Amino acid sequence: MRALSGIQPSGAVHIGNYFGAIKQYVALQQEHEGFYFIANYHALTSIRDAATLRRYCLDLATDLLALGIDPDRATLFMQSDIPEVTELTWLLSAVTPMGLLERCVAYKEKVAEGIPADHGLFAYPVLQAADILIYNSDLVPVGQDQKQHVEVTRDIATKFNSTFGEVFKLPEAHILADVAVVNGTDGRKMSKSYGNAILIFEEPDELKRQVMSVKTDSRRVEEPKDPESCNVYNLYKLFAADEDREAVAERYRKGDIGYAEAKQKLLATIIEYFAPQRQRRAELEADPDYVRDVLKAGAEKARAEARETLDRARSAVGA
Ligand code: ADP
Ligand code: TRP
Repeated sequence: MRALSGIQPSGAVHIGNYFGAIKQYVALQQEHEGFYFIANYHALTSIRDAATLRRYCLDLATDLLALGIDPDRATLFMQSDIPEVTELTWLLSAVTPMGLLERCVAYKEKVAEGIPADHGLFAYPVLQAADILIYNSDLVPVGQDQKQHVEVTRDIATKFNSTFGEVFKLPEAHILADVAVVNGTDGRKMSKSYGNAILIFEEPDELKRQVMSVKTDSRRVEEPKDPESCNVYNLYKLFAADEDREAVAERYRKGDIGYAEAKQKLLATIIEYFAPQRQRRAELEADPDYVRDVLKAGAEKARAEARETLDRARSAVGA
């Protein structure tokens, strides 16, 4: 089985990225072959400055290695190092119904936010389908928001196969129910673009500010509270060991904990949880050539696989 996923270099990684996606990448590489890449061509839909994009790409590669992607087990690479993917995008576009893309929620949401509806934004899921299909992926570890794009990938693959003959394997989204959507400081889905994210490698003062800004109601310490409806608890439970989580939930129900204390606990837990990764990140940051070498070796491996699938697709259409 092969697990594959991509992540856009559109800013610092947050807790939602970690629990929704990156933690699964790391877990899956133990038993499956892992292909993970930095979706820099997808990021062109939002980043239009070359120096910024380059910096975000190197930062994200550093973050992924610090968070546990192991180059001895998994293949880590940059999307744009595999030009076969953009060629396959065209072959897939030829059989992609407009209506399929018009139904994509991510596209509709971005347009509703006022982002200009250019062709790249509209065709984004076709490039994503090429990313997934070209490596013959079985599992695609992602958060809930990406489920529709994996379904679109399956639809495009099915259409291509029925039109030109069996070329592509149909992938499955790999989504863990309890972390499918991690909420941000305001209780909405945590996202870089909503300003509600808690960033994993943030400086301690800023991390503290982010945690302290988690929205709560105005109930006092001694009032009983439902832990599951509290934004602070819902973040805390991602990190805490079973017995700590149950103990805190019980204190919520008994009216034995206030939001200030809960936030302090959350902050301490986040700092402790990511301490080894933070240390590892500092080491990697001091050695960017190592990070670049990992990406280069990954691209060589990924490209050989991509070439083979692209050749089959070209031959199927008669090119
Ligand atoms: P963002 O919405 O912050 O821009 P990305 O789109 O770069 O995040 O997402 C990268 C990966 O992290 C995807 O697999 C996505 O599904 C996952 N992810 C992002 N935000 C969350 C969240 N709040 N909860 C769970 N998974 C998430
Ligand atoms: N669209 C994904 C996101 O915004 C990133 C992505 C690009 C991706 N290509 C992919 C995810 C292939 C999984 C598989 O998060």
